[in-house]
Amino acid sequence: MDEAGRKPRVLALAGSLRRESFNKKLIRCGAEALRAAGAEVDLLELEEVAMPLYDGDLESEKGLPPGAVAFKRRLALADGFMFASPEYNFSIPGTFKNAIDWASRGEEDVFSGKVAALMAASPGGAGGMRMIPHLRQVLTALDVWLVPSQVTVAKAAEAFNPDGSLASAHTAKQVKELAERLVAEPRLLRSKETGL
Ligand SMILES: Cc1cc2nc3c(=O)[nH]c(=O)nc-3n(C[C@H](O)[C@H](O)[C@H](O)COP(=O)(O)O)c2cc1C
Repeated sequence: MDEAGRKPRVLALAGSLRRESFNKKLIRCGAEALRAAGAEVDLLELEEVAMPLYDGDLESEKGLPPGAVAFKRRLALADGFMFASPEYNFSIPGTFKNAIDWASRGEEDVFSGKVAALMAASPGGAGGMRMIPHLRQVLTALDVWLVPSQVTVAKAAEAFNPDGSLASAHTAKQVKELAERLVAEPRLLRSKETGL
């Protein structure tokens, strides 16, 4: 909480469109941990802000598509971000990168100076850990500060209980600690007021 008693507002998003996405499950755990740590959470699903593939001609002719405008508004309203993304071919899924690329366009900068915490889940043994440095690089280009720690969930098909909670107490603790670290980050409440 800041001096005025305002809770930090965190946008939580999974970089997958899949209904049964492991990363959606993981970000819901992250959102719960963020709330427990004292944040106000805006849990967004990528399909709520569906947008076409980035096309410079489309942007020149029509400006940002409605999905990108809606995504930017949600990013602008947040003091910080928590992302859980799949790993596709050792990197960020094109759908998620496309959304970030659109959001980096237009007048208003909705990223600069904000803080983000990263997670990944994969049914494989590496837990999406090869995607994370790529997402760190992209967000660094946008002047986002990254929490140094991260959470990766390997063997994700066995990682969640039927109620959506994490089966491993160790992983649940890692998510809790990541959320606490993000909420305790002093830069979180120093992010620019956007006026939106
Ligand atoms: C195009 C594509 C590439 C993939 N590449 C990787 C990969 O490099 N590493 C990995 O661990 N899983 C890879 N996978 C498997 C995903 O981790 C798996 O589909 C996972 O369930 C996606 O995350 P989600 O459950 O949140 O949708 C790939 C899947 C697709 C569709």
